[in-house]
Amino acid sequence: MKVVEQIKQPIVREMELFEKKFHESMSSKVALLNRITYYIVNRKGKQMRPMFVFLTAKMVSGGMVNERTYRGASVIELIHTATLVHDDVVDDSNKRRGFFSINALWKNKIAVLVGDYLLSKGLLLSIDHGDFDLLRIISVAVREMSEGELLQIEKARRLDITEDVYYEIIRQKTATLIAACCSLGAASVDPEGPHVETMRKFGELIGMAFQIKDDLFDYTDDAIGKPTGIDIKEQKMTLPLIYALNNCTDKEKRWVINSIKNHNKDRKRVKEVIQFVKDKNGLGYAEQKMKQFQVEALQLIESFPPSEYKDALTLMVNYVIERKI
Ligand code: IPE
Ligand code: IPE
Ligand code: MG
Ligand code: MG
Repeated sequence: MKVVEQIKQPIVREMELFEKKFHESMSSKVALLNRITYYIVNRKGKQMRPMFVFLTAKMVSGGMVNERTYRGASVIELIHTATLVHDDVVDDSNKRRGFFSINALWKNKIAVLVGDYLLSKGLLLSIDHGDFDLLRIISVAVREMSEGELLQIEKARRLDITEDVYYEIIRQKTATLIAACCSLGAASVDPEGPHVETMRKFGELIGMAFQIKDDLFDYTDDAIGKPTGIDIKEQKMTLPLIYALNNCTDKEKRWVINSIKNHNKDRKRVKEVIQFVKDKNGLGYAEQKMKQFQVEALQLIESFPPSEYKDALTLMVNYVIERKI
């Protein structure tokens, strides 16, 4: 059995029902919007966030989920989808999940509005059912994701990002939503329980590893369903590059910065920078950091009693860093 199937095993029923509810949650009276959301649901992603929601809920409750858990999973996936639609506008990226991105097919104007629509549908799903505790968790994540993206742009302009700032960026733009999945999963079944904060922290640590993995993909030529090698072109400095810059001569550093600042659209030059990062062991260092986050995350769930949900969550943590897409 494939690892993903193994992870899904204890939540097969929940994921099936989730997909139906998720699709319904997007419907609109506007035909153009329905065409686009139809396009989106037919090119679904890995759905790791709803999996985190259900597995966490079942681990802390001993196997129970409820309507709040389902709504929480839908809200999170709606918001995740909205941010990807916007992210491809921001990053000027024409590919997502192996197909054209929304901005590539319908242009930026429409992508911005579709993202807003999905975001509002998510928030309303919580409001309409009075899930205000879950709405707070989600709204914090939405705020932090916007802040993280803007911090990233600010740093990209100045090209002076440190390793600590990098961690702050990925904590905000990516880890915070995965933290929300896990704390929301726990809160959906046990609102005031002690596990809400532990699971938030757990999700945050995996989220960090998740984004480092995503940034490592950019240094490969692998077919991952979205463009690779675009971070330097977009002047986005990620951990492998930051490490390389901290471990080279002043002359090399000036050459790299000049390349990113003034030659970032020159494909040959970008390739040379990528090779430079590899030569300086930037990828090895990032991998090592990613594994540290993985180990810390696993420690946080160690004390839960054995269960199939805990086993699946553990597999999922490992999948985050070993995945091929
Ligand atoms: C992509 O997330 C955005 C990042 C935070 C790196 P996923 O890799 O989970 O995207 P899908 O939903 O599977 O396409
Ligand atoms: C992740 O950012 C998307 C968000 C967290 C909004 P990236 O720009 O690094 O992700 P991909 O590689 O396009 O999925
Ligand atoms: Mg981006
Ligand atoms: Mg992007």
